[in-house]
Amino acid sequence: MTEVLDRTDRGIARAAELLRAGELVAFGTETVYGLGADARNARAVAAIFQAKGRPHFNPLICHYLSPEDAFRHVTPDARAERLAEMFWPGPLTLVLPRRVTCPVALLAGAGLETLAVRVPAHAVAQRLLAAFGGPIAAPSANRSGGVSPTSVAHVMSGLGGRIAAVIDSGTCRVGLESTVLDLSGPAAFLLRPGGVNLEALEACIGQVRRGVTLDQAEQSRTLRSPGMLVSHYAPALPLRMNAAAVAADDALLAFGPPLPGARLVFQLSAAENLNEAAARLFEGLHWLDAQGGALGCARIAAMAVPAHGLGLAINDRLSRAAAPR
Ligand code: TXA
Ligand code: MG
Repeated sequence: MTEVLDRTDRGIARAAELLRAGELVAFGTETVYGLGADARNARAVAAIFQAKGRPHFNPLICHYLSPEDAFRHVTPDARAERLAEMFWPGPLTLVLPRRVTCPVALLAGAGLETLAVRVPAHAVAQRLLAAFGGPIAAPSANRSGGVSPTSVAHVMSGLGGRIAAVIDSGTCRVGLESTVLDLSGPAAFLLRPGGVNLEALEACIGQVRRGVTLDQAEQSRTLRSPGMLVSHYAPALPLRMNAAAVAADDALLAFGPPLPGARLVFQLSAAENLNEAAARLFEGLHWLDAQGGALGCARIAAMAVPAHGLGLAINDRLSRAAAPR
């Protein structure tokens, strides 16, 4: 059952309480309805991917009440500060380097070293952020591959029964998603056209490269700084998937009862729960890499994870990490 909450202080308080409990709440923004979760709670973030049926862990946008709040989690440069002053709150998302102290779950940023941040203008989004008191990760509140929702009816027809609640927030003024601008390198890249147009951005910060896909932007970033800005987190240790046995110098990424004999074990989910495993995946890769490296492990051996539900996304990430470099 999905609760439909109204925009009263009581409705907003209930939504904040659900978010604190790790539940999913859809809420209106000036662009489209977002499917929100506590960005610091990896399990709640994993539940977003599950509810949407997203096949891959696309990075999510983190929503903040103010630019000051956002810039406590990412490092702004002069361009970002100027854009924030001009367009926030509003339909602009900035991709910036994460601070080392950033408490947002790695899964929310898909393991990237950058984080997409936005300060929404819609009154319901702002009141929810204020009541919740923390960052809210939110993709558009539709099933993967579906059309973005701009009303409660849209949200309910796609996600009704799959999420805890939706706040009836009225209409979405902009009606299409935010502009996503990558400012993590010296050149500004337009990753997605949206609510703030290109001319307005260029009037504020000068030339913006357009027609660039996320992959191309990542490639050029990687070329500028090989090994430093690996786009999708790849561990330093080589990784072997679908391990059926373990060598003494393996660091084991376990799913269910661990294979015997590994020097080091990180358990994704003892109960073989795919949601829990997804929530812990990036933590596990980071941890095995650091600890395994220190203990002289030669590689990470990942146990098989079933390829259904969130298991598809987990296997996608593992196969990227296992790909020859
Ligand atoms: O208007 C919007 O942006 C809505 C509302 C709810 O805020 N949200 C939204 O989220 O459209 P989503 O998940 O549907 O789209 C997020 C976009 C994706 O294209 C994703 O690849 C990109 O932002 N993105 C997120 N984090 C990124 C990162 N660290 N680097 C590059 N691109 C990123
Ligand atoms: Mg979307």
